[in-house]
Amino acid sequence: MSLGSRPKPPPPGPAAAGIDRMTLKTFTIAIDGPAAAGKGTLSRRIAEQYGFHHLDTGLTYRATAKALLDAGLPFDDEAVAEKIAREVELAGLDRDMLSKHEIGEAASKIAVMPPVRRALVEAQRRFAAKTPGTVLDGRDIGTVVCPDAPVKLYVTASPEVRARRRYDEILGKGGTADFDAIFEDVKRRDERDMGRADSPLKPADDAHLLDTSEMSIEAAFQAAKSIIDAALSRNA
Ligand code: C5P
Repeated sequence: MSLGSRPKPPPPGPAAAGIDRMTLKTFTIAIDGPAAAGKGTLSRRIAEQYGFHHLDTGLTYRATAKALLDAGLPFDDEAVAEKIAREVELAGLDRDMLSKHEIGEAASKIAVMPPVRRALVEAQRRFAAKTPGTVLDGRDIGTVVCPDAPVKLYVTASPEVRARRRYDEILGKGGTADFDAIFEDVKRRDERDMGRADSPLKPADDAHLLDTSEMSIEAAFQAAKSIIDAALSRNA
């Protein structure tokens, strides 16, 4: 503060009302599941419904992978990858810029590295503490990042259905795609995410399972909303 400057007025909101910000509790919704299960769309709708902050944690792995690719850095050096992971800015993450297939592939390769996971999990936990509430989606949110989250959803669908959705999405955007290649890619990604030693993809013991194979996004949203509303009233 420069000499002679006036003290700042207290910030508006709870601190001004005399409530210590540190005692304010947040409410976290943890959403996990394999690629293309519909958890991204569902998470965004839930965050919008409750006015919560949303973090797609897959983007943190993708941003790390893209930075390595762009800089021509090796993919087998954990210390280098960790350094890059620590520099990822959560505020600037954008799925459109990180959606390329090779970025997703590279992300799932660096996601097996424990130092990279530790760095990104630290940042994700800081995000999860924001008030009034947060929605985080990924692969290990209910099991590792936010094991105490009051609501955990595990959103899944059969590999065929997930591959079909991805295929339709690409065609819908005017692109071309090979269904069999996408199907193989979905299965390969599942194997890597479910088979790794550190934080493998699996439902937390207390997660609610939502199989969206035969469900519209609206039906999945309504099912999730009933679960969340019940937990919110228990926490009230
Ligand atoms: O969800 P998305 O396809 O963007 O994630 C890219 C990759 O990042 C996943 O295949 C997975 O290997 C990794 N990931 C992860 N843990 C998370 C989120 C994503 O390991 N919480």
